[in-house]
Amino acid sequence: MSAERGRQITLIGFMGCGKTSVGEELARLLGVGRADLDQLIEERAGTTISEIFKTKGEAAFRALETEVLNETAARDEALVVCSGGGIVLDPKNTETIRRRGTAVWLRASPQTIFARVSGDGSRPVLANAASAERIGEILSARLPRYEATADFAVDTDGKSIAEIAREIVERLR
Ligand code: S3P
Repeated sequence: MSAERGRQITLIGFMGCGKTSVGEELARLLGVGRADLDQLIEERAGTTISEIFKTKGEAAFRALETEVLNETAARDEALVVCSGGGIVLDPKNTETIRRRGTAVWLRASPQTIFARVSGDGSRPVLANAASAERIGEILSARLPRYEATADFAVDTDGKSIAEIAREIVERLR
């Protein structure tokens, strides 16, 4: 990352790990802007992520996701970037995130994730993941991708949004 460009901090991690809420608090603490990739995708598509999956399929969603990531990375700004849980599945995205700044991996146990996301119909990847066990399986399959992308990880179980954000600020020093 070149010195004159603002540093981008990208939050990565599985669905329900708190990327969006922690991102808001972290951006506030750092005094920088925030970009939410899922939100940018929905604005661009003019519809919800669930609808994109349903009508165009996951591949079309992933293409849009890479597009908004690349555009965000091209901004000459210090930003906190909140990503979607599957962004790391494409190694090209990992490369972009790492080139552009620091990747912080928010971790949570399958039980915590299940408690946070159950009953929320807005996540198509979890449409059939009706148990903590199933979430654990999807999470395990993705672990190597989070590991390959992250500069460091923060465990979030039992911590408040403010505590997690403060811990990230400390680790960034
Ligand atoms: C996805 C995570 C979602 C969203 C989409 C796919 C995934 O974002 O991008 O539903 O594959 O893990 P959140 O992690 O913000 O829920």
